[in-house]
Amino acid sequence: MKVFINKIIPDHGLGLLKQAGVEVTMWREPSVLTREQAIAFCKDHDAFLSAGQAGLDEGFFRECSHLKVVALHSVGFDGVDIAAATQLGIPIGNTPNVLNKATAETALLLMLTVARRALYLHRKIKKGEWGVSQPTQDLGFDLAGKTLGIVGLGRIGAELARMCTQSWGMKIVYHNRTRNEEAEKEFGATWLPFEELLEQSDCVSVHTALTEETRGLFGYEQFKRMKPSAIFINTARGGVHREDDLIRALRERLIYGAGLDVTDPEPMSPDSPLLQMDNAVVFPHIGSSTVETRNKMSRCAAENILAGLKGERLPYPVNPEVYS
Ligand code: DGY
Repeated sequence: MKVFINKIIPDHGLGLLKQAGVEVTMWREPSVLTREQAIAFCKDHDAFLSAGQAGLDEGFFRECSHLKVVALHSVGFDGVDIAAATQLGIPIGNTPNVLNKATAETALLLMLTVARRALYLHRKIKKGEWGVSQPTQDLGFDLAGKTLGIVGLGRIGAELARMCTQSWGMKIVYHNRTRNEEAEKEFGATWLPFEELLEQSDCVSVHTALTEETRGLFGYEQFKRMKPSAIFINTARGGVHREDDLIRALRERLIYGAGLDVTDPEPMSPDSPLLQMDNAVVFPHIGSSTVETRNKMSRCAAENILAGLKGERLPYPVNPEVYS
């Protein structure tokens, strides 16, 4: 059995595949594969382990309908035509749970960096502007005791809520389509209508999947509803906010600041005004990029591949309906 891997994954997962006697082809070039290249490789393999491959649309699955499994090296599966894969009987797997803590830590890192103006102050030192420090100068604000509004309170949002309630005594409000009773019990989280959450939160953190419903959810009107002292954090998907509107809101100081681990598009252009702003911090989609987490993700993906090659149910299926 042969698996094609489109990026360099950790030895943890790779070893698992090799131990099982699977023949592995791994694309090691620094260039991103085109959809056509990915199809060409997949045609010659039984399974595909995909780290962020663009273009997994209906056409891709039709061309590669022989694949026994596609294992994503991510928890997110936006950009993958799950319905088309299911129709063709191809199981799709992802890597849930193992990246919850790392992603929540990334959100927290952004919250602290923005609230304490850390990047702006770092740049000031580099420019030789660390002069007399007045007690009233360049102040940030405390997270302690403030209200954190979580949009999409699932597993990653719950990790963030845990950290913020336990360490900072923050109050949690959230907005989901359906109530998260566990979180209400554990964190005393309060469900609010979306607009009320925007108005009440000192920090709004996005943890929702990118769907037709959430695309462009945060635009100028939504930023305007937030407190001028509030910060906006997105570690979910760049498509959930409208980047031009965010830039405008930051320029007009409608909000205090923004921290992004995800942008629209990715990679972000080095010319983006966000990179020059004192009140914005941008990371290059590093939510899950710790050694421990990436090792675990590669294991999950490898386990999905092995199960799929044997014709067994994937341990982490995205489309369990493929079995019915
Ligand atoms: C995920 O796993 O979905 C992360 O965002 C990395 O893409």
